[in-house]
Amino acid sequence: MNRKVTVVGAGNVGATLAQRIVDRELADVVLIDIVEGMPQGKGLDLRQATPVELSDSRVVGSNDYADTAGSEVVIITAGIARKPGMSRDDLLNTNYKIVRECTENAVKHSPNAILIVVSNPLDAMCQVAHKVSGFPKQRVFGMAGVLDSARMRTFIAMELGVSVENVSAFVLGGHGDTMVPLPRYSTVSGIPITELLPADKVEAIVKRTANGGAEIVSLLKTGSAYYAPSSSTAEMVAAVLKDKHKILPCACYLEGEFGIKGLYVGVPAQLGARGVEKIWEIKLTDAERAALHKSAAAVQELVNVLKL
Ligand SMILES: NC(=O)c1ccc[n+]([C@@H]2O[C@H](COP(=O)([O-])OP(=O)(O)OC[C@H]3O[C@@H](n4cnc5c(N)ncnc54)[C@H](O)[C@@H]3O)[C@@H](O)[C@H]2O)c1
Repeated sequence: MNRKVTVVGAGNVGATLAQRIVDRELADVVLIDIVEGMPQGKGLDLRQATPVELSDSRVVGSNDYADTAGSEVVIITAGIARKPGMSRDDLLNTNYKIVRECTENAVKHSPNAILIVVSNPLDAMCQVAHKVSGFPKQRVFGMAGVLDSARMRTFIAMELGVSVENVSAFVLGGHGDTMVPLPRYSTVSGIPITELLPADKVEAIVKRTANGGAEIVSLLKTGSAYYAPSSSTAEMVAAVLKDKHKILPCACYLEGEFGIKGLYVGVPAQLGARGVEKIWEIKLTDAERAALHKSAAAVQELVNVLKL
């Protein structure tokens, strides 16, 4: 039997994520949405691509959580996305209700699953899924840092004209305007970019990374990014299903790490079959630590509004 994964929300991010999981033959996928017919249609379309893509993963769309029973991983992408001029935080109240409902339904049928949250505002929605599911913190975490780092890696590769494969980057903090790209820990073939680029170029990359989502929203005008977000989520799903022990920046529940308590914030996490196996508490300069705490304070403000 193939492994089983559920993607909740069959919109741009959810459907593209299902496609990536199926194309890579990582697992069978159940695609869930409240809109009747749409997940079924997308599921069938994706299934009909499998003979050509040479994948024996089975994908099905549904409106019924009973079909998701026994999933190893559940990814929550349901909710509204940003429109031009909106911040991720503007989505708070609407997506709170949606993420709460999706989490309740999903965990009823998959009590041992690992939950990966994608809906925005990301860190606050992780807090909702953690609270509502009652799952241990290791089994509830969020996707943001992999995407923000992928954006930073892209801009570094574009600036230096090198392969993206040579570039690694680290972005910590909440998935919002206060995110903390770390140039010191961002490297090209092991060399920090601070050694390779003048300060103004590094600063421009940091700014464009923090504004990466808004740049795309302003171009698309009708929604937000989904190709890179779905790729980034698929990398996390693969790390879990393949028990890779892979270190990726994820939104994790902190209990004192980096001096932050009782809050989801983006930090380097080691992912494997049990979910978050370890949080890597890397050394930060005073300025980096202050920026991380400022970002955590912004997440805390949103969480306070929800009165969880
Ligand atoms: N964490 C990140 O880095 C990141 C990146 C991109 C997008 N996002 C977020 O992901 C979410 C989805 O984005 P998108 O572009 O796919 O939006 P979308 O509008 O294309 O899709 C959202 C889907 O959720 C469905 N939905 C709404 N309420 C539901 C419910 N109660 N149960 C099941 N399904 C429900 C909608 O019918 C829709 O199909 C947004 O909140 C967006 O901000 C996060």
